[in-house]
Amino acid sequence: HSAESRSRGAFILLEGCDRTGKSTQAAKLVERLQTLGHSTKLWKFPDRTTRIGQMIDGYLAKGEDLNDHAVHLLFSANRWEAVEAMEKHLSAGTTLVVDRYAYSGVAFSAAKGLDLEWCKHPDRGLLRPDLTLFLDMPIEESMKRGGFGEERYEKLTIQTKVRELFLQLREPTWVMVDATQSIESIHKELVHQSEKAITRVRDQPLQHDLWL
Ligand code: TYD
Ligand code: MG
Repeated sequence: HSAESRSRGAFILLEGCDRTGKSTQAAKLVERLQTLGHSTKLWKFPDRTTRIGQMIDGYLAKGEDLNDHAVHLLFSANRWEAVEAMEKHLSAGTTLVVDRYAYSGVAFSAAKGLDLEWCKHPDRGLLRPDLTLFLDMPIEESMKRGGFGEERYEKLTIQTKVRELFLQLREPTWVMVDATQSIESIHKELVHQSEKAITRVRDQPLQHDLWL
């Protein structure tokens, strides 16, 4: 066996408030990394395709009401139900570009008033991202972008709290990206950071110690 055949993919996370360009950037990043020869797959939370995801979709998009704690646990369960599949891809050498994760989980629930430490608990022991790219911009700017206001949470007061909570959850390893830049300059920065991470972690074991 060559070292090459054992190398794993990187878990690259894009986080940020709504309308900061995460989905656009995630799709472009996947495409570029593939062109550069890295096996890469796009992943997204919430995953609305599962049964748990359908309950989340009912809550976010269809105005169905659920207890705040219960919906928090559904978002977390939606990540836990993906763990085996994510591990399989990463171990097989595929890099995952993940659009939102547990930081969104905690920031949005805590913004509604739930206790921050309580919120972190159900995600403890999940896979830890190898690289977190945080797309940041003033909420007043993102609110001007199209599509805002269609779903629950897409309101100025909630987004402002969510951003503050994200900044509280920020870890020293996060890369803060100015999301007001052009799509192309953001893209270049994300590609550069991602390639560094892919090289850095290829011979490292997966980390199952989020918030532990
Ligand atoms: P979003 O990424 O905006 O989905 P889409 O691109 O399909 O619109 O996520 C939907 C909302 O869910 C967003 O406002 C953030 C929120 N959210 C949580 O409240 N908890 C979570 O754990 C996650 C992943 C997202
Ligand atoms: Mg959205």
